[in-house]
Amino acid sequence: ELSPIDTAKYVAACRAAEMVEDGMRVGLGTGSTAAWLVRRLGERVQDEGLRVKGVPTSTRTAQLAREVGIEVISLDQAGWLDMTIDGADEFDPDLNLIKGGGGAHLQEKIVATASDQMIVIADAGKEVETLGAFPLPVEVVPFGWQTTRTLIEEALDAMDVLGTSSALRMNGAAPFVTDEGNHILDLHLQRIGNPRQMALILNQVPGVVENGLFIDICDKVIIGHGDGRVELRD
Ligand code: A5P
Repeated sequence: ELSPIDTAKYVAACRAAEMVEDGMRVGLGTGSTAAWLVRRLGERVQDEGLRVKGVPTSTRTAQLAREVGIEVISLDQAGWLDMTIDGADEFDPDLNLIKGGGGAHLQEKIVATASDQMIVIADAGKEVETLGAFPLPVEVVPFGWQTTRTLIEEALDAMDVLGTSSALRMNGAAPFVTDEGNHILDLHLQRIGNPRQMALILNQVPGVVENGLFIDICDKVIIGHGDGRVELRD
């Protein structure tokens, strides 16, 4: 018996899994919602003999995909993908996203951008009018990360984003380390008035590898509800 939140994630994931056709190359997202998708896709591989090649966006997802019997290939082996299906931390009415709550947004953005379409699966709680209540993850190289943080704060000041605090993401007593060997700064912005400008400015700071804003990348959001209903935004 699933809780309402897991039901919401599960029904969204099932709807997305139905969109995958035989022979497709599919980007596999990261997080609890994407994990439902990977499991459901694994069932289709086992039950229907669906042939699908999956490009995972994290070591976690790669492991799960192999466990459920999905053929895993690298992005460079795939070259280009038919679709990527992934979760999100927030989405707005323009289908812009905040991702990276799981620390995988760098690979997720590369994979989604290399896809004909990106489909986001999310429970209804992820829908917002304005992005930013969820802290914005920014992946930074470990070298000089404190300088990078200062430069980010100065850049935000210059954008009139005041009262921002940023936190180095931790994993117990040590800094969190991404699949690419970097750290994450979580920016507490409350409200991102101009996400496009924010994404550009952050990525111009030396030491920043990638921010968690996905602008004009997502094509469709499948929203799951706790009562099992599914809604589509595109
Ligand atoms: C992973 O880095 C994120 O981008 C995830 O897509 C995001 O955190 C959503 O995770 P859940 O599906 O667990 O909410």
